[in-house]
Amino acid sequence: MGRSVPGLKPQGHYIWRPIGGDQPAHTIDWGCDRLSTDVLSGSWGGVLMRVVGLFSGIGGLEVGLARAGHQSIALCEIDPFARSVLESRLGLPVESDVRQLASLPNCDLLAAGFPCQDLSQAGTKHGIAGARSGLVGEVFRLCSGPGAPKTVLLENVHYMLKLGSGRAMEVLTAAFEDLGYRWSYRVVDARSFGIPQRRQRVLFLASKEIAPERVLMADHAHDPSKEHDAPSAQIDPDCLYGFYWTEGLRGLGWTRDAVPTIKGGSTIGIPSPPAIWDPSTGFIGTPSISDAERLQGFIRDWTEPAEFIPQGARRRWHLVGNAVCVPMAEWIGRRLSKPAEQNELPEPKPFPQRNWPKAAAGRPGERFAYDVSMRVNSHFDLDLRGYLLDDLKPLSKRASNGFLERAHRQDNRIFIPPQLLDDLSDNLKFRILEVAA
Ligand SMILES: C[S@@+](CC[C@H](N)C(=O)[O-])C[C@H]1O[C@@H](n2cnc3c(N)ncnc32)[C@H](O)[C@@H]1O
Repeated sequence: MGRSVPGLKPQGHYIWRPIGGDQPAHTIDWGCDRLSTDVLSGSWGGVLMRVVGLFSGIGGLEVGLARAGHQSIALCEIDPFARSVLESRLGLPVESDVRQLASLPNCDLLAAGFPCQDLSQAGTKHGIAGARSGLVGEVFRLCSGPGAPKTVLLENVHYMLKLGSGRAMEVLTAAFEDLGYRWSYRVVDARSFGIPQRRQRVLFLASKEIAPERVLMADHAHDPSKEHDAPSAQIDPDCLYGFYWTEGLRGLGWTRDAVPTIKGGSTIGIPSPPAIWDPSTGFIGTPSISDAERLQGFIRDWTEPAEFIPQGARRRWHLVGNAVCVPMAEWIGRRLSKPAEQNELPEPKPFPQRNWPKAAAGRPGERFAYDVSMRVNSHFDLDLRGYLLDDLKPLSKRASNGFLERAHRQDNRIFIPPQLLDDLSDNLKFRILEVAA
């Protein structure tokens, strides 16, 4: 049993309940059963799959799976700040280094959101052979030994489909095929679940038990993202807009009614929160860490236990940015319990010659693509204004100045809405006056 932190009670072994819970129970139509989230968070009392979590971070996969009725029995995480959150919030034993695990305890599902630093666009780009993302090799090792699970769930950044012509995907699919698993993957956007964050992630499922596409392709919906993600001069004053104040040269991370992907920032704990612009008032600010946690589907202050370790407060953004969005894991957990029938799936398409599609499935000698969007569900209205509970922190003088300098560079080809630039200039003047006063 893990160490507990004063003032915060471990939450029991398999019944995960929100602490303090600012999220009221609500009913969501997932395209299958209508179920209330408080029922699925444990009061229903049953256990469907026994889950082992590797690279558990702050437990995004485990919490989401628990909300779908699955029980985590063991976790593994090397970072002491993340471990303090897992131990306090989930009350489960946490092993430290995956490389030291001789074998897995008996389980039905292995969940492993392996490190993304070598696979992400903003990272080292060393690829699947990199020192950190290459740790996925430990998953293959453990799946070839005693206690190998019937089903494995991985999560990572969608850039891994592109990097090195999808080398990571070649490695993952070949390894699981060698181990006797069928595989399927799909890029899914967190906005599918009413979370106002653009977060597009690859969910990869390998199974010896079921055709994994019956889980991943079961729900699909229209994706309006293109209209929301391209910066335009047409600004809707009723909406909030998210962007990265650290960008301005290569892209903007522009998103209407949502924030761009929350990032881990630097490992030494320098946070990099997204900016939010309210065109009705001209205000530009950054969200609180508690709202960032909620934008990942956790309850408010989920990572507070990290603060009991020196320097822990600075690390909270890093932990939150690295996490798996909870409702994404909850959706897959529900679908694992109730996969679609083969005849309910969209028609498989020929696998493209050159690139890795956004959704696909395969087994030895056979691969096919699926023409499904990143939206699992599109009937939630995104409402960033209504979602945030805390006031935004005004964007600093330094951040506004840096962004404006990049925006006005002669070699800059990125379109930035003129109204945003005007508001940023006003913000900068205001901050300068504030410092002078
Ligand atoms: C992408 S994050 C996983 C996030 C997690 N799924 C969540 O929802 O918070 C990858 C995690 O792997 C952990 N990690 C890196 N090397 C490890 C190792 N050798 N053993 C165990 N965990 C490791 C990192 O500390 C990090 O928390």
